[in-house]
Amino acid sequence: MWFHVDAAYGGALVFSKKHKTLLSGIEKADSITFNPQKWMYVAKTCAMVLFKNHHLLETDFRISAPYMNETDFTNLGEISVQGTRHADILKLYLSLQHIGLKGYEDLINRGFTLIEEFTRQVKKRSYLELSDEPDTNICCFRLLLNEYDQKHQDQLNLKLQQYLLKDQHVFLSLPTYRGKRWLRAVLLNPFISPSTIQQIFKQIDDFYSEHCMEHPLLK
Ligand SMILES: Cc1ncc(COP(=O)(O)O)c(C=O)c1O
Repeated sequence: MWFHVDAAYGGALVFSKKHKTLLSGIEKADSITFNPQKWMYVAKTCAMVLFKNHHLLETDFRISAPYMNETDFTNLGEISVQGTRHADILKLYLSLQHIGLKGYEDLINRGFTLIEEFTRQVKKRSYLELSDEPDTNICCFRLLLNEYDQKHQDQLNLKLQQYLLKDQHVFLSLPTYRGKRWLRAVLLNPFISPSTIQQIFKQIDDFYSEHCMEHPLLK
């Protein structure tokens, strides 16, 4: 059995003394996906797979490329998806030098402060449903209108997403989860404040008053 952990996003929690317990058990993994291009703010692309036993890459995962030199050193193209790559590590190295471990800790912790306010705003509104308590700086929620069937609720959430994007310049993605559309907020920008979040919810309130209270049937 091979134990792989997809920590592409959440792996950055390791920088936060307060929150790294969320990664508990990850040390047992045989391999871990980790993408500094996500919560470490490194420009795309910067992604990696870490192996507990690097030697297994050569013995078990290797795909031979006999047209390459195999005798003097391990041809990295044989143990990775791509042979020819940019020096993506440089961006990560320089970011670590510049921001530092303490800087990353502050950035990760800031995400938790912001998501706490965001989640509080969702919970305050009976017309909004929270998918789960956030584990990171990501919060999924949706307009919950029991008088509508599922299809119309999904349409209304799409309409809210478009309204926020086109009229308010706020981007929430719209993933499908448990068979429903959800609005997903990823609070990566450390420079926004709780008042920015309150402003977004005021816009959501405006949408709700305009589209859901006065016009109970979707157009
Ligand atoms: C948890 C998780 N795994 C994997 C991926 C995909 O990463 P990549 O773009 O390197 O394929 C994402 C992208 O958002 C992700 O959030």
